[in-house]
Amino acid sequence: MKARGEKIVALTAYDASFARILDEAGIDIILVGDSLGMVVQGQNTTLPVTVGNMIYHTGCVARGTRRALLVADLPFMSYPDPEQAAENAARLVREGGAQMVKLEGGRKRAEVVRFLAEQSIPVCGHLGLLPQSIHRIGGYYVQGRDEQSANTLLEDALILQDAGASLLVLECMPAVLAKEISCALQIPTIGIGAGPDCDGQVLVLYDMLGISPGKSPRFTKNFLVGVKDVPAAIKAYADAVRAGQFPAAEHSF
Ligand code: KIV
Repeated sequence: MKARGEKIVALTAYDASFARILDEAGIDIILVGDSLGMVVQGQNTTLPVTVGNMIYHTGCVARGTRRALLVADLPFMSYPDPEQAAENAARLVREGGAQMVKLEGGRKRAEVVRFLAEQSIPVCGHLGLLPQSIHRIGGYYVQGRDEQSANTLLEDALILQDAGASLLVLECMPAVLAKEISCALQIPTIGIGAGPDCDGQVLVLYDMLGISPGKSPRFTKNFLVGVKDVPAAIKAYADAVRAGQFPAAEHSF
């Protein structure tokens, strides 16, 4: 799709009923994100989410999915070294039905990414705002605003690609930086709060349906407004991403 210049449409899901709606609407990638800790479990961060939680929700989503690529998050501290990463990723694949696992971080994760890829477990990287590092970062801020951190993110993206990552999520970074990274990589980038020039887009399902608790982040949009039901909102999102209408300037940094 990247080579053909077709936008990749991704959304999160945590259960079979929503997964079926997303799948039937032609969503390309369903991500079982550890955001489930916040939007399903009501936690303040993603940190309490366990491998067991991820396997349970990935299994639910797998049973509602026929054609979309199913990606599942490796949760906080489940991939500190290649061996533990492989053990937990294998459980997400074997017990949950995931087809790809996602993990957060740059060059420090290269060894883990390489090991998983060598075991034929496809890996999605995740750069920019890293919710699993929230206590180090100190808040949900846009990353890569200055030249040095922007260069570090670009280098990290190339390192993850070289290590064998198949896909890369870019979260909350300036649109110009996400564009530069997307152009520099052969693997597709999936943006969230990273502007319109990534190869695809992802949103947290509950954000784009306007049912997440608290104030909506700038980069989301409530697609349920003005349509009659949830399938129509999912279709409106997919159409807007494919037409290059979402995200617009007001959703970008
Ligand atoms: O956990 C999640 O839902 C994610 C997306 C925000 C990309 O990682």
